[in-house]
Amino acid sequence: MPMPRRAAQVFTAVLLAASTVTALSHTAAAADTLGSAAAGKGRYFGAAVAANHLGESAYAGTLDREFNQVTPENEMKWDATEGSRNTFTFGNADQIVSHAQTQNMKVRGHTLVWHSQLPSWVSGLGATDLRSAMNNHITQVMQHYKGKIYAWDVVNEAYQDGSSGALRSSPFADKLGSGFIEEAFRTARSVDASAKLCYNDYNTDGVNAKSNAVYAMVKDFKSRGVPIDCVGFQSHFNSASPVPSDYQANLQRFTDLGVDVQITELDIEGSGTAQANNYSNVVKACLAVTRCTGLTVWGITDKYSWRSSGTPLLFDSNYGKKPAYDAALAALGGSGTGGGGDGGGGNPGGNGSCTVSFTRTSDWNDGYNGEVVVKAGSAPINGWTVTLTFTPPQKVASLWNGTPSWDSSGNVMTVRAASYNGSLAAGASTSFGFTAVKNGNNSTPTLGTCTAS
Ligand code: G3I
Repeated sequence: MPMPRRAAQVFTAVLLAASTVTALSHTAAAADTLGSAAAGKGRYFGAAVAANHLGESAYAGTLDREFNQVTPENEMKWDATEGSRNTFTFGNADQIVSHAQTQNMKVRGHTLVWHSQLPSWVSGLGATDLRSAMNNHITQVMQHYKGKIYAWDVVNEAYQDGSSGALRSSPFADKLGSGFIEEAFRTARSVDASAKLCYNDYNTDGVNAKSNAVYAMVKDFKSRGVPIDCVGFQSHFNSASPVPSDYQANLQRFTDLGVDVQITELDIEGSGTAQANNYSNVVKACLAVTRCTGLTVWGITDKYSWRSSGTPLLFDSNYGKKPAYDAALAALGGSGTGGGGDGGGGNPGGNGSCTVSFTRTSDWNDGYNGEVVVKAGSAPINGWTVTLTFTPPQKVASLWNGTPSWDSSGNVMTVRAASYNGSLAAGASTSFGFTAVKNGNNSTPTLGTCTAS
């Protein structure tokens, strides 16, 4: 008797999970992983990590195999560590730090003073109270992790985008004035004299008004003896914000001021060769700057990226190595075997494309069925991935002819081909379908672009 479709899907998922685990049990020789290759160049290669994924064997296995530095993605932020005044919660961040210690990974502390993910009680304070709350927060968090953190993002994203070169409006800037940055760094040094103290920002990757403002601040701090050791360049890139042509020169001019620099939150939206070239260029820029001491990618797998639909990371949602991985490893001087570990169905280096369309095929009181048609472009493809974003509290009850996974919010569903419908001839189509439960919300999900492999 043929296996029922639902059971077959579960069976396929179990088989895929098993093959992933098998791939991960391979013990890597020197310089065939990102971390070991970077170490060969006197650098680290790290990833942002979320505590709630550490129990997933493929996630932890990929982390432990490839990376030698971690940054907690959210767990050390103010809202996570001091949601109520002077009550500190370190459980999730401790989990990441312990994991890192058992694996001999460096930890970047992210972040002490930031306008975002700031509890509302902080924003409501008057100046005197805010100053003491800021210094207390820095002190308590740094003391808890003293000796375990190689570098802290003491202040994050303090400057405005655009041409003003001014500080952005925040409770800190608005109530304490520009001196809050200096005060934060001085407090940090008084708590832990060994940890490196960094300023971290985005859109500062090339020479522009914003990076000029940060540059002027660092120059001023160095000239007056304000303790600052490093500057982090987040490096979140996409087509609207590409890798700047003066990236290396910008890193170099900061190190010339006497600070280290790091690439702290690297991700580059895209796929295939274009994404691979961008990763290669970023890695090469860091290696060309003596005091660029390491790189951190902002996540391990596209599945859990903060912008998952842009597939910006080095591992696909099945933990397969992407062309970008091979390019980053090669730029580090590593000697990977290429491809591999993608759980089947992948075709690293494939250059086909695909398009998608969505139809809501039937509706009833509290549910609907949707169908997504995937069509190969003018070249054959061996796999495809599509993202759909649902409006909560809608939930997907079942899915057929595809393999789903969800982001941590539970609202973004990434579907990759089932074992039998990934290979499409040029111009050929296939489809997958799902049943969604409305839970009182009748919205149609937003369909992302199709990524071919
Ligand atoms: O954990 C809750 C979950 O319980 C809830 O159901 C869900 C509903 O939205 O939210 C979940 O929290 C989310 C959290 O990520 C964990 O996934 C927050 O809403 C969401 O705002 C948060 O986003 C983080 C973002 O910073 C916040 O500004 C991203 O994960 C994180 O990658 C991102 O990281 C920042 C760096 O810290 C600074 N530089 C930019 C970078 C990218 O935005």
